[in-house]
Amino acid sequence: MQESIFLIGPMGSGKSAVGRRLAKQLGWEFFDSDAIIEERTGVDIAFIFEKEGEAGFRRREQQVIGELADLKQIVLATGGGAILIDETRKRLGSRGTVVYLQASVDQQLRRTRHGKERPLLKGGDRRQILEQLIKVRDPLYREIADILLETDGRTVTAVTAELCERLAEQAGGPA
Ligand code: S3P
Repeated sequence: MQESIFLIGPMGSGKSAVGRRLAKQLGWEFFDSDAIIEERTGVDIAFIFEKEGEAGFRRREQQVIGELADLKQIVLATGGGAILIDETRKRLGSRGTVVYLQASVDQQLRRTRHGKERPLLKGGDRRQILEQLIKVRDPLYREIADILLETDGRTVTAVTAELCERLAEQAGGPA
C-alpha cells in the first residue's frame, strides 16, 4: 500500500488518536492539520477564529492540507470542517485513501467534553450545534470517503485494528 491515508469526520470522532496509532503501525509519518496550523502561526485555533474568523482559518487549513496531500505515505488527520472547501475535498479525494470516521452526536459530546478548545462549540447549545454541523457535512464526508468506519463506543485500538483490516482488503481487492 503506497497511498497516503486521510482521516476525515466530525469533532470527537477520534481522527487524531486513530491516525497517530495507525501511522505508528504502518511506520509512516503522522500529521494533524490543526496542530500544523498552530505550529506555524504560534497561536491556537481558537485565537485564529477570533482574529480572522472561520473564513481565515479555512484559508490556512486549505493551504496546509494542500501541501500535505502531496506527500507520500503519510497519515493525515484533518479538522472536522476541512471538507467544506471544494478544493480540499478534491485534493484529499484524488491523492490518497480517504477514511470517514463516523460518530453519533452523543459520542461526539462525550469526547469533546474535555481537552482542546473548539471555537465552533462555544456560545451555544453543543448538541444543537453538532447536529446542525453533521447534517450539512455528512454528505460531504461521504462524497470523498473510500472507507466508512463507525467509532461509537469503540476504543482507539479497536477502530485502528478494523481500519488496518479494511485497508488491507482494499489494497488486495480488484483494481
Ligand atoms: C472544526 C474542527 C476542529 C478544528 C476547528 C474547526 C470544525 O478540528 O479544525 O475547531 O469545523 O469541525 P477537530 O475535528 O480535530 O476537532
